[in-house]
Amino acid sequence: MDAAIAGIIEDTTFIKGQPVAAFEAAFAGILGYEPATVVGCSNGTSAVALALRAAGVGPGDEVILPSHTFFATLEAVVNMGAIPVFADIRRSDYTIDPDSVADCISERTRAVIAVHIFGTPCDMTRLTQICDRHSLKIVEDCAQSHLANWDGKPVSTFGAAAGYSFYPGKNLGAYGDAGATVVKDLEQATFIRSYIDHGRSGKYECAVIADNLRLDALQAKVLSVKLPHLAGWTERRRAIAAFYNERFRSAGFKTIEPDKRAYAVYHVYVVEVANRDAVQKELAAVGIDTGIHYPIPCHAQPALATAEHRIPTPLTVTDDIVNRIVSLPIYPELNEEQMERVVSNFLRVAVPVP
Ligand SMILES: Cc1ncc(COP(=O)(O)O)c(C=O)c1O
Repeated sequence: MDAAIAGIIEDTTFIKGQPVAAFEAAFAGILGYEPATVVGCSNGTSAVALALRAAGVGPGDEVILPSHTFFATLEAVVNMGAIPVFADIRRSDYTIDPDSVADCISERTRAVIAVHIFGTPCDMTRLTQICDRHSLKIVEDCAQSHLANWDGKPVSTFGAAAGYSFYPGKNLGAYGDAGATVVKDLEQATFIRSYIDHGRSGKYECAVIADNLRLDALQAKVLSVKLPHLAGWTERRRAIAAFYNERFRSAGFKTIEPDKRAYAVYHVYVVEVANRDAVQKELAAVGIDTGIHYPIPCHAQPALATAEHRIPTPLTVTDDIVNRIVSLPIYPELNEEQMERVVSNFLRVAVPVP
């Protein structure tokens, strides 16, 4: 990594250039894409927004998304001038519930965002059926789901377009902010590549009023160095999740239950508890960090008070789990002794939800 970074400093190609193109091609390669269809960009938030743009979403369109997601998914919709419509999630795996999506559709609906939350693929079979029936676009938020697949097909290859985040804590993380948009064809890729670079059609000519959302070369290089390790790291995350699952489920706890067709990549490991405050406090006392993903669903955020949105059906599961979910340490470097320590301390204090 040091040599790779030193190479960029020596070369001084900090913006665009070969390192960005090389990463785009390598990432496209693992998705089974033509290189031209992956466009590196500034972060996951811009990646999702660019994916919406590539899918043809515009001001006044309604976009259906789960309320149970990171706030950035919502920002991408609202900043596009589109109207968020919140769907509920499934109790089993916390991904967007296709039945709830069907209930949210109106004549203004343009797209549905499939957020593969925690690294668990959404039910792309049913979502595709529903969206096809109503001529809606699917946009995938893959910020947490690098290398995940549904029924053998990689996430980000189902919808009209997709966005990835390479925030440092992600399964594939840069040394700063970074992201990528995945589109379907060369024409869209050319448009997005120009859009993230001031809408340039030439060095000094700009075809549209756009933005600066470029991926920088240092981040691209860091990502290229890490990419060959991603499959191994992902297997390790899955092994840790399997270990946790066995111990927690046999003690009566609800954990993520991915569908049989899903290859989940466990960006976050979530378990439901009846006494979350005590669990977090006791684990912190023995040096084990926990998190909550997420304590406030999007529809309950203060920012929504002034933003147009719709909640057509009750968000029963979303509201139910918000006070129960706790995230436990999961990352490839976690060793057996640490995993055992997490489990024994958790089981010492946690109470299952009745
Ligand atoms: C589901 C989801 N969508 C979008 C984003 C936005 O990514 P970024 O932080 O790179 O802008 C994130 C990550 O933070 C995320 O978890």
